[in-house]
Amino acid sequence: MIYAHILAGGSGHRMGNVPMPKQFLDLKGKPVIIHTLEKFIINKNFDKIIVSFSSSWLDFGQALIKKYISDPRIVVIEGGKERNDTLIQAVNYLADNIGLSDEDIIVTHDAVRPFITTRIIDDNISALREYDAVDTVIPATDTIVVGAKNEIDNIPNRSLMYQGQTPQSFKIKTLKDSYSQLTDEQKRTLTDGCKICVYAGIKVGLVRGETSNIKITTPVDLRIAGALIQER
Ligand code: CTP
Repeated sequence: MIYAHILAGGSGHRMGNVPMPKQFLDLKGKPVIIHTLEKFIINKNFDKIIVSFSSSWLDFGQALIKKYISDPRIVVIEGGKERNDTLIQAVNYLADNIGLSDEDIIVTHDAVRPFITTRIIDDNISALREYDAVDTVIPATDTIVVGAKNEIDNIPNRSLMYQGQTPQSFKIKTLKDSYSQLTDEQKRTLTDGCKICVYAGIKVGLVRGETSNIKITTPVDLRIAGALIQER
């Protein structure tokens, strides 16, 4: 089975003073998450599309999807406290409710990246023929500076640096097993889904993203997203 997982359980603090989490905000006539979901429902590879919302926005999110989309593959579930909790809760949902086979894969994507393309989704799925986990990246264009306390520690070679996007995609059993091997400290400090596999020593393949596959994080990003939509 091939699953999509849309992570929409965040609260969007960096968006500032807005009435609802950014995935529900209007982007040129439609909520951000609907733009994102539309890119997944046109892809017939998916057997199910899991969407996670926080408990306080679950009813709202469910009603919103119903208003715009009618696709029996969509399943709404509750997300977790941190992003990786939301990811693992979806994996556990599948294990408990449908069961997992060795071939099952999941393409996980931020609800707030509405400019995902069919090419990126299909490349993620294809790359899982070779790897158990894949990340979508673009080459870093700015120099990456490593530092703390207002001082530079290191300036790594930019040609080896990438910026991580989503989707991040996994053989589901590998992801589940890798997560179960982590220490509590590793679980607490995880900020990235693929790092679960990196910690477990699993090779993670890279898929080429797009500079337009932006994550809407701040009010400026929402304005850029609006401009990108208008341009299309
Ligand atoms: N996400 C999630 N569950 C969480 C936290 C985040 O599903 N517990 C999702 C968000 O809804 C978003 C994606 O992961 O689609 C990326 O999250 P990010 O923008 O980094 O975090 P937010 O919590 O949404 O925003 P902020 O960090 O500004 O509070």
